[in-house]
Amino acid sequence: MLSTRADPDDRTAAEPVSATAYRTMMAAFPAGVAVVTAADEDGQQYGMTCTAVSSVSVSPPTLLVCIQHSSRTLAVLSRTGTFAVNLLDDRARAVAELFAARRPDRFQHVAWTARPGCGGPHLAHDAHSIADCRVTGSVPVADHVVVFGEVFGVTGKDAPPHPLVYGMREYWSLAHTGDAHHAAARPGKASTSDPERKT
Ligand SMILES: Cc1cc2nc3c(=O)[nH]c(=O)nc-3n(C[C@H](O)[C@H](O)[C@H](O)COP(=O)(O)O)c2cc1C
Repeated sequence: MLSTRADPDDRTAAEPVSATAYRTMMAAFPAGVAVVTAADEDGQQYGMTCTAVSSVSVSPPTLLVCIQHSSRTLAVLSRTGTFAVNLLDDRARAVAELFAARRPDRFQHVAWTARPGCGGPHLAHDAHSIADCRVTGSVPVADHVVVFGEVFGVTGKDAPPHPLVYGMREYWSLAHTGDAHHAAARPGKASTSDPERKT
């Protein structure tokens, strides 16, 4: 006779852990901080702070970004098919905070360029490296969309990169060998508590 009771050994039917348990775990998994940018058909710029960036493959060079459904940047890059990933320098903590805030005038407070042929606006002053990408696929997962981008351009600086890192709910710099240091804040709002953050 078939039992209707859930099998306690069936891990595929296990309940998910709480959001708090998941956030706490992921907070201890630091990530580089990027600003994903896109421009719409009228040349209007959009951009958002993003730590959910990962390399997918080298050949062809492909990365992924995970973006919440409600993002205006996601809407634009999905329509136009291109975007740029600006990997922030450790001096650019205020830029990370600016692009995490839902304010329409973000691009008035940073230096940016949008040359023809770019995937999206470049924040050349605040990024140590920039990837221009074309969208090759996207997969909705829960309240986010995983967007795959083939990298058709890389812009870097001559100097060694000093990446901005986010982990344990703080911004960090890796600049000092052997010991991580909090990234110096520029003047401006210095809140790291974003309700949309997964961690
Ligand atoms: C450190 C940090 C990392 C973030 N990473 C992500 C992320 O990986 N994906 C995401 O969808 N939102 C992330 N956010 C939140 C977005 O930056 C924020 O919701 C932004 O306002 C969206 O802008 P938009 O709607 O104009 O695209 C992050 C915020 C912070 C402070």
